[in-house]
Amino acid sequence: MSAFDLAAARQSIGWVTGAGGLIGHHLVQTAPRFAPAWNVCGLTRVQLDLLDFARVRQEFQEQRPQLIIHCAAMSRSPECQAKPELARQINVDVTALLAELAADIPLVFFSTDLVFDGKSGGYHEPSPVNPLSVYAETKVAAEKIVLANPRHLVIRTSLNAGTSPTGDRAFNEQMRLAWQRGERLRLFTDEFRSPIPAAVTARATWELINEKETGLFHVAGRERSSRYEIGKRIAVRRPELLPQIEPASCKDFQNPPRPPDTTLNCMKAQSVLSFQLPAFSEWLRDHPNELI
Ligand SMILES: NC(=O)c1ccc[n+]([C@@H]2O[C@H](COP(=O)([O-])OP(=O)(O)OC[C@H]3O[C@@H](n4cnc5c(N)ncnc54)[C@H](OP(=O)(O)O)[C@@H]3O)[C@@H](O)[C@H]2O)c1
Repeated sequence: MSAFDLAAARQSIGWVTGAGGLIGHHLVQTAPRFAPAWNVCGLTRVQLDLLDFARVRQEFQEQRPQLIIHCAAMSRSPECQAKPELARQINVDVTALLAELAADIPLVFFSTDLVFDGKSGGYHEPSPVNPLSVYAETKVAAEKIVLANPRHLVIRTSLNAGTSPTGDRAFNEQMRLAWQRGERLRLFTDEFRSPIPAAVTARATWELINEKETGLFHVAGRERSSRYEIGKRIAVRRPELLPQIEPASCKDFQNPPRPPDTTLNCMKAQSVLSFQLPAFSEWLRDHPNELI
């Protein structure tokens, strides 16, 4: 980048939607370190309801962002299952609007490992998708819209851990809240994911943007862990809550059916990134004062 480009980029506004949520919050927090050239504008629902299409168009015309990182979503599968129309509006229609507005600039969209049916695990980017839930269906539909533009980027990630502004978005926060209420958690021993700290997802996202990557990338942790193993790892950090965990099977959960192994192969992203995507257990060991 020339000095002139750098100066111009410094003034460029980058939108992060869903800044009140887990990953959006971590993207805004890490921007000064990993994306100092961008003037990052984190948008919460209070600042801009993305379902108000007329206002979104107006804000876009006025602010003229040069980058959109789209994190806002109905991200909880049970809520999508209960409200499929609203899930489609938020996850698909809003994404389509942003993709249209961002036709000439980079757009980053977050998708999920749950686009796969989980029969094999270790999924690569070209592996065939087979969504089993409304949430996953909306993500597959939105991915297609975003990937139609060769300037745009889709990042599929797995379970993200971290600290959200509302304190209840990350899975580790939900576990802690349940233990604080004295609940006993039933966690699947036969459902496998690739957990990753949201701070790492954010860093990887900024690096992919800085490298001007487009297309589809998997960004997740290096370790395959069951929900039960993940819960155990979080529990040992909060002994004062007397955390209770009980093993369960995802086969007993049928509505919607749960994909048993949606672990992601992230070699494509890894070949671009300046750091190694961590195994979740190693990351926890190296960051004893985080996620507590
Ligand atoms: N976290 C994970 O483990 C994970 C895993 C795979 C993929 N993803 C994907 O990554 C993206 C970010 O996930 P996340 O965990 O950060 O989600 P999140 O914590 O649930 O945050 C989503 C944010 O979107 C906002 N939002 C929803 N509808 C909106 C609207 N109409 N207008 C404006 N804002 C709206 C929510 O606001 P309210 O709080 O007001 O509802 C919330 O702050 C999502 O696309 C998600 O599907 C996440």
